[in-house]
Amino acid sequence: MVILELESIDSTNEEAKRIIKKGLFEDTAILAHIQSSGRGRYGREWQSPEGNLYFSVALKNKYPLQQAAQISFIAAIAAKDFIQSLAPKTAIELKWPNDVLIGDKKIAGILLESYNDHVIVGVGINIASRPEGLDRPVTCLANYGKTPAISSRLLEEWLFFFDKYLNLWHKSSFAVIRDCWIKNAWKLGKQINIKIGNEKITGIFKDINDKGELVLESNGKSKLISSGEVFFD
Ligand code: BTN
Repeated sequence: MVILELESIDSTNEEAKRIIKKGLFEDTAILAHIQSSGRGRYGREWQSPEGNLYFSVALKNKYPLQQAAQISFIAAIAAKDFIQSLAPKTAIELKWPNDVLIGDKKIAGILLESYNDHVIVGVGINIASRPEGLDRPVTCLANYGKTPAISSRLLEEWLFFFDKYLNLWHKSSFAVIRDCWIKNAWKLGKQINIKIGNEKITGIFKDINDKGELVLESNGKSKLISSGEVFFD
């Protein structure tokens, strides 16, 4: 894996696309200390001041797209283990499909994109500060553990966990990743509200299936929810 460390960029996902366009010869991870146009899911902004981790990993896609989407679960589990290593006593949970939470507050998010036969795994982890002015609960590592300086060394620590779960996935199947994910699932077995477009559904979060879809029990029926435009609070 090649690691590039940049002082500032618009978005590491966009930089990954530019590199792929020029011809990517090896899997590449791009770390930026500052992003001027950091992006989250659903077209949201991802505030990116200095002190937090922003990076993207560009991988040649060897999988059908639906399978490639499972990499976002792998990235989230890797982020959980990584954060746990820096805050060993803190309970960390995974919110479907791929947010990382501490105490019901988001600390990390994943933006997976596919581009020219590649997968781009964008990861943002709030280390020194949390975003301001949001209507959603957010937190940062500084409230719970060490606040390491941002460096490629730190990214290598996340990559260690990412490689571990990626290998596990290659050797077996998504079922193993699902098992790791579900152990730390936020609100599993509890009532959740899901918003798909303008529709709101309330139900019990029963499981995730072998495709990574959320299994919701609503009005006595099982519904499968895929991770498109879904908000769940
Ligand atoms: C989300 O939870 O909405 C996903 C957040 C992803 C943020 C990261 S930061 C590095 C990479 N570059 C971006 O512009 N976004 C991702």
